[in-house]
Amino acid sequence: MIEDAAQAHGATITNSIGEKTYTGAIGDIACFSFFPSKNMAVGGEGGMITTSKQIYCERLNSIVNHGRSSRVEAQQLGSNLRMSEVSAAIGVVQLTHLDQWLQHRRYIASKYLQECKSNTKLIMPKVRENTQHAWHQFCILVEDEDAFIKHMDERLIDSIVHYPIPCHKQPVFINHPQHQDDFTITDSICKKLVAIPIFHEMRADEIERVISALSSY
Ligand SMILES: Cc1ncc(COP(=O)(O)O)c(C=O)c1O
Repeated sequence: MIEDAAQAHGATITNSIGEKTYTGAIGDIACFSFFPSKNMAVGGEGGMITTSKQIYCERLNSIVNHGRSSRVEAQQLGSNLRMSEVSAAIGVVQLTHLDQWLQHRRYIASKYLQECKSNTKLIMPKVRENTQHAWHQFCILVEDEDAFIKHMDERLIDSIVHYPIPCHKQPVFINHPQHQDDFTITDSICKKLVAIPIFHEMRADEIERVISALSSY
């Protein structure tokens, strides 16, 4: 199983005997994104693959390095997917702040959830039991996304539908057997899931401004 952990830095799940697992250690392989908007970044494009299995480790190290098995021999097709040392150095410093940044994201999310729970026009995200969310995005499900975005816009607050086209409907998958399939829930909510501001530098007055805008919707 390959985890798409691109937005999930620091998210956890705890099992029935209290053992906590971080994203990145759930599947066989996990992929993290360090794109600049993510919970931690590297000052440019970048990413990280994690695995606990030696066989994948060797194969992945080879794929990111032109498929080489040694300095002179290529055993498979690969590419140059090596992140720069400078980017990695920035990432190492950012990693030391991640816990604190996550705590702030979780604080903001808890304020939004607390303050908006009685607003029936906003369907707020739910955190699954025994998990800790990474809150890369805070997405609200609304009936009329245009009206909601206009309402936020008038109060100078950014809000956006990030993924209006689900994966299976992307043109690149036009020949995929599931391209025309109905994924009832995905298809019905993909245009109505609106992301509102959440980021680790968000100030108390900015959080209050968002809450006030949500409350008046
Ligand atoms: C869920 C998810 N998967 C994959 C990616 C791709 O990450 P990258 O652009 O670093 O390759 C992103 C980036 O936005 C993402 O949010």
